[in-house]
Amino acid sequence: MSVQEQLVDNFSRVVNYVRISVTDRCDFRCIYCMDDEMKFIPRAQLLTLEEIARIGKAFTELGVNKIRITGGEPLIRRNIIKLFNDLGALPGLKELVTTTNGSQLEAMAQQLKDAGVKRLNISLDSLDANKFKRITRVGDLNKVLDGIDTALAVGFKKIKINAVILKNRNHDEVVDLVNYVIDKGIDISFIEEMPLGVIGDHDRAEAYYSSDEIRRDLESSFELIPTTETTAGPSKYYKLTGHNTRVGFISPHSHNFCDQCNRVRLTCEGRLLLCLGQEHSVDLRKVVRAHPDNDEALKQAIRDAMSIKPKGHDFNLNEKPIIFRHMNVTGG
Ligand code: GTP
Ligand code: 5AD
Ligand code: SF4
Repeated sequence: MSVQEQLVDNFSRVVNYVRISVTDRCDFRCIYCMDDEMKFIPRAQLLTLEEIARIGKAFTELGVNKIRITGGEPLIRRNIIKLFNDLGALPGLKELVTTTNGSQLEAMAQQLKDAGVKRLNISLDSLDANKFKRITRVGDLNKVLDGIDTALAVGFKKIKINAVILKNRNHDEVVDLVNYVIDKGIDISFIEEMPLGVIGDHDRAEAYYSSDEIRRDLESSFELIPTTETTAGPSKYYKLTGHNTRVGFISPHSHNFCDQCNRVRLTCEGRLLLCLGQEHSVDLRKVVRAHPDNDEALKQAIRDAMSIKPKGHDFNLNEKPIIFRHMNVTGG
């Protein structure tokens, strides 16, 4: 049996996880993610679904065993289920997962399950329809809640809610959100906002609410017990006494996790980004189009890219963003 190749960067970190953004478009306009008026990438510049599947396959042959499909909102890309089916059939893949805003789940949860998607991460920042609308600018809370119920009904056991917590927008809802996930038997991660892209009408330093503050707020209602459990992601998890629910904290400001980074990202234009918080990248679209029948050139480009993976990010909420990409381009 041949030995499985691994991707290793200059800091001895093994990269076994790729996050693939399939579109920068979204049916929501969350205030921390997008500007009010966004210009989206022309469709002609996107990787085709076939090109994405080819790149996904190359990664699995290099030792990647987890692929997360992100956006924008991945489920609004036309024919996206075909990509899930193609990736779900790759022999090297242990986990095919996706991060969604939940708006399309009522219609698509069953197809995702059938394609072999193992876990769903669903964004939900508020349980109050008005606040939800203020944060997403256009989103319909009930549609998302129905989508979550459908995902549970079709048999998704591992669902994680992602809640970006902002001071004076939704910080007063953390206990309600935890009660909601306990009731549904699912997990939650609370996320500190990251400064990606310039957003005119939203002051990030003013809206900062740290994971430590959230934990303190939760401790008045729940007993949180630290665990060493990990999904190989940046969440630090706690268990709640008396419940199966896990509560995670993604804290790029207060607890940097870059030394354990195991991931790279592919943008919908085919740019392989080596870090969410830096611009180091390689144009894989150029490589796949220059070598339509030769995956070895593609694999070599991926191997070579590891040498420029930076040590970590330098996010600073008090300065203008140094990363001009909005989050919808990389999918988090
Ligand atoms: P699992 O660990 O597989 O459950 O996924 P995840 O929590 O990493 O993924 P998800 O797509 O749900 O992302 C949740 C949040 O984590 C988003 O706000 C991402 O931007 C953030 N995140 C994921 N990976 C990184 C990373 O490498 N660096 C930083 N700074 N944030 C990340
Ligand atoms: N900072 C932190 N998280 C963000 N997300 C989108 N934009 C930001 C940001 N600027 C979250 C979404 C989703 C996940 C993929 O990223 O809420 O849950
Ligand atoms: Fe859309 Fe997700 Fe960005 Fe909200 S955070 S606008 S749901 S891509």
